[in-house]
Amino acid sequence: MKLCISLDLPSAKENLAIVKEIKDFDVWLKVGLRSYIRDGKEFLEDLKAINPKFKIFLDLKLYDIPNTMADAAEEISKFGLVDIFNVHASAGENAMQTVMERIKDIPNRPLVLAVTALTSFDNESFKAIYNEDISTKATKLAKDTYNSGVDGVVCSAFESLDIKKNTSDSFITLCPGIRPFGEDAGDQKRVADIPFAKENSVDFIVVGRPIYKDTNPKDVVKKILENI
Ligand code: C5P
Repeated sequence: MKLCISLDLPSAKENLAIVKEIKDFDVWLKVGLRSYIRDGKEFLEDLKAINPKFKIFLDLKLYDIPNTMADAAEEISKFGLVDIFNVHASAGENAMQTVMERIKDIPNRPLVLAVTALTSFDNESFKAIYNEDISTKATKLAKDTYNSGVDGVVCSAFESLDIKKNTSDSFITLCPGIRPFGEDAGDQKRVADIPFAKENSVDFIVVGRPIYKDTNPKDVVKKILENI
């Protein structure tokens, strides 16, 4: 299991300060909409400059018509800085296949994951939009993702095992909504701790606030790495 840290702070300076503190750890860094919209590609370069071994997950959750998604995927892949990026599975199989087809020959292409259901949904709010239970729909979307040649999914730890059973053990599951040691859930509705993530064969845990809101982020990262 790998740790992926969300860099969701209000400025590049604050994000980089945390990254500098943890520069010797074997971790992935998640750059989301906030950081990327504000700080752009240069921020990705700044992260690699701190330690070229850092792996970067660009969490922009692409969702558009197939050609537009593939255009964006191609640009991200050509950066040569991104190790994982993601799309929304509900954009459909055609969109996911178009993305994979477009980037397949780019050297060292990033891994691609598709978001099944956002971890901020509870079952009721999810059903109001999709007319289906969250777990049923997440597994269906994961199967579409697998059939489209995408490398894995972003899902909650509660769905990880079922998704692997319905696809393949090697199909990647990356799970946000992790509160490693039972910390405050914030706006996340379905949170899991480290033992639960392990039991459910989660490949990547994504942790944001429990790390960057702590007075000593480095200690939290160290403790998480000792436990995964
Ligand atoms: O602070 P916290 O640990 O809740 O951060 C979780 C991160 O994972 C946030 O950056 C959020 O945008 C992201 N995320 C999520 N649910 C998804 C996909 C990404 O919470 N389905």
